[in-house]
Amino acid sequence: MSKRTIVTMPGDGIGKTVLAEALKVLDAVGFDAEYVHADIGWEFWKKEGNPLPERTLDILEKHKIALFGAITSKPKSEAAKEIDPKLKDKGFVYYSPIVGLRQHFKLDICQRPCKTFKGNPLNFIRHGKGGTIEEPEVDVVVFRQNTEGLYGGVEWTDPPEHIYEALMTHPKFEKNFGWAPKDEVAVSTRIFTKKYSERIVRAAFEYAQKFGYKRVTLCEKPNVIRETSGMLLAICREMEKEYDGIRFDYTNIDAQMMWLTKNPEDYGIIIAGNMFGDIVSDGFAGLVGGLGFACSANIGEEVAIFEPTHGSAPKYEEYEPSIVNPIAMILSSCMMLDHIGEIEKAEKIRKAIAKVLAEGKVRAYDMLKLKGSPEVLKQGAASTKQMTEAIIASL
Ligand code: NAI
Ligand code: MG
Repeated sequence: MSKRTIVTMPGDGIGKTVLAEALKVLDAVGFDAEYVHADIGWEFWKKEGNPLPERTLDILEKHKIALFGAITSKPKSEAAKEIDPKLKDKGFVYYSPIVGLRQHFKLDICQRPCKTFKGNPLNFIRHGKGGTIEEPEVDVVVFRQNTEGLYGGVEWTDPPEHIYEALMTHPKFEKNFGWAPKDEVAVSTRIFTKKYSERIVRAAFEYAQKFGYKRVTLCEKPNVIRETSGMLLAICREMEKEYDGIRFDYTNIDAQMMWLTKNPEDYGIIIAGNMFGDIVSDGFAGLVGGLGFACSANIGEEVAIFEPTHGSAPKYEEYEPSIVNPIAMILSSCMMLDHIGEIEKAEKIRKAIAKVLAEGKVRAYDMLKLKGSPEVLKQGAASTKQMTEAIIASL
């Protein structure tokens, strides 16, 4: 059988560091793949005026599955200052290559698992009966619609006349906003389509069935945002009928944020639109360790990209040895293995991580709640490499 090809996009800063670590773990678990490098990030903005070069899109188009580290993004004005002088004033405009990737390949399904590893000092705890300390096991996977809604980019300040006129035909617009001068009105839209709403709901139920989750919760606000949240709810209600043994219910995003700090162990699969999914997934991720542990997948009809949630943390880029936690990236590669059907290998890696964390001897600086500095290694923190080595040793 020919080897599987995986595209690697290290990107910037610690993206390069953690991706290299994840590849070592994939190697150690016996995942035999050919890795094809693809350029992305700040370096290519500076050199070429494009952080997401066309050749990278071609490589992804061809090989479909990618591991991605992280990129550095900066505001437009700063980006313009750093571009190669030869390219200045040639019409190059910086845009986020991640948003670019999501839009280009319609990576509409974002998955974010948030799972407690026993022994992680960053786990959520609460006081139980009789002064006991409870450490509930959170095992939630958020399914966030990744391309539509409030992040769809359809927005205006001082909308064009024809848009404004159209809005004025809506009785609520006229009543609630008609009094304001047009040039003092800003509008951001929240557009959902049936196709992509169905896809996110389907993906969530399928995942629940495949991995044995008993509860699927839609986290939106259907009683207030009736049309878009309401569309998702109607689709969930319909699809629920196809999945025996899975309980469906819905919560409001505000109440959900409170409940996740009270009884997070009661949730399984969460479905949400783009904005609420962003919020609720960060909330759950915080209960199980935050950025050092937060992994994610962006899955489209053809292409799928797996990445830690964290960014390029430029201040740690030059550290030798590196101190950042590679676990979020390693867990993201486990999601890649799940996606391509190598579930056993993914489970093996997750078990190895669980063992290292349960033993508690090797901990990255974030797990010790230390402020990141080269000193942390003297204060008992493991370096990035030591963490990877411990995981590989426990495989
Ligand atoms: P960041 O996620 O890079 O870092 C925030 C803080 O989280 C760091 O200072 C560090 O203390 C901690 N942290 C992050 N990853 C960690 C790890 N693996 N282990 C231990 N601690 C870790 O976010 P920040 O500083 O806001 O942004 C830095 C750059 O990254 C910016 O240019 C931003 O635009 C970009 N960014 C890129 C993302 C991506 O590539 N998906 C996501 C978020 C930010
Ligand atoms: Mg976010």
